[in-house]
Amino acid sequence: MELPLIPTNIILIDNLQNVLNGQFNNRVRSTGYQYEKYNNWEKIEAWTADIANENPGLVSRLQIGTTFEGRPMYLLKVGKPSANKKAIFMDCGFHAREWISPAFCQWFVREAVRTYGKETIMTQLLDNLDFYVLPVLNIDGYVYTWTNNRMWRKTRSVNAGSSCIGTDPNRNFNAGWCSVGASGRPCDDTFCGTKPESEKETKALADFIRGNLSTIKAYLTIHSYSQLLLYPYSYTYDVTKDNVELHAISKAAVKELATLHGTKYTYGPGASTIYPAAGGSDDWAYDQGIKYSFTFELRDTGRYGFVLPESQIKPTCEETLIAVKYIASYVLEHLY
Ligand SMILES: *[C@@H]1O[C@H](CO)[C@@H](O)[C@H](O)[C@H]1NC(C)=O
Ligand SMILES: [Zn+2]
Repeated sequence: MELPLIPTNIILIDNLQNVLNGQFNNRVRSTGYQYEKYNNWEKIEAWTADIANENPGLVSRLQIGTTFEGRPMYLLKVGKPSANKKAIFMDCGFHAREWISPAFCQWFVREAVRTYGKETIMTQLLDNLDFYVLPVLNIDGYVYTWTNNRMWRKTRSVNAGSSCIGTDPNRNFNAGWCSVGASGRPCDDTFCGTKPESEKETKALADFIRGNLSTIKAYLTIHSYSQLLLYPYSYTYDVTKDNVELHAISKAAVKELATLHGTKYTYGPGASTIYPAAGGSDDWAYDQGIKYSFTFELRDTGRYGFVLPESQIKPTCEETLIAVKYIASYVLEHLY
């Protein structure tokens, strides 16, 4: 039979892509876990144990606290163990309904263990930095979005003197706390809480970062949606002393992100790019001395909003990973 006439270069590129796609498969240890689906907390919790057990030289699990409803808050430490390493802290799942966010933290850890030792940049990153990955901060809220109300945002703590539940964890940090873009009313979605770190979840995160300030050099917090890359400040229109550098990093990161699927991100200081809002974890981390502090607002721009279809998990996580790796590489080259 005669061979069909297909330009040779297309066959080669196609084969090359297959090889590239296939080469890391032996590194996928967490078999059976579905990274292209949204996973409930029960599955994510089991996954935190599995991924650590299956990658003992790269991933370890620590508990940093307990949620209001008593769930353990697990943090994954991802990196090749060695002395005096600096670290990047990344959290997902602040706001319960932003399901693509925890999906990205899971994707990130999977890609870390899958490509370590195979892909140059990830290998360099994990050899020289640790990533602290908090897969879900607001676990109680996340559970509630699976069981009761898909659109829930806040924690699930009880408010004294009110029948309304929950505090907005991203208005609950000590950064211009409750001065702007936040509400003092417990029934509101942006309720700032009774004081900074009134929530067990935000307190646990803040305690861990405060306790490891000498090593944590970057803070990344993953939200959705709007396709934005934000940096401090959000609690004031004043710009930070690092504004020029943070602007340049963001500009380059969103450019890299767009190379994969053409997804367009806007970037800038939080206050002027979306709206002024006090009590955010990014501003707080920056004021603690963590210069490289960024908030991602992932896909989309509103068509599906918080209810982003599972078919978009893969492309969203792929492009976000590029931006996160860009920022992490920059941080590694600019340790302070
Ligand atoms: C700092 O990080 C280490 C893990 O690398 C952890 O064991 C320790 O508890 C952290 N410190 C604080 C005060 O949370
Ligand atoms: Zn959010």
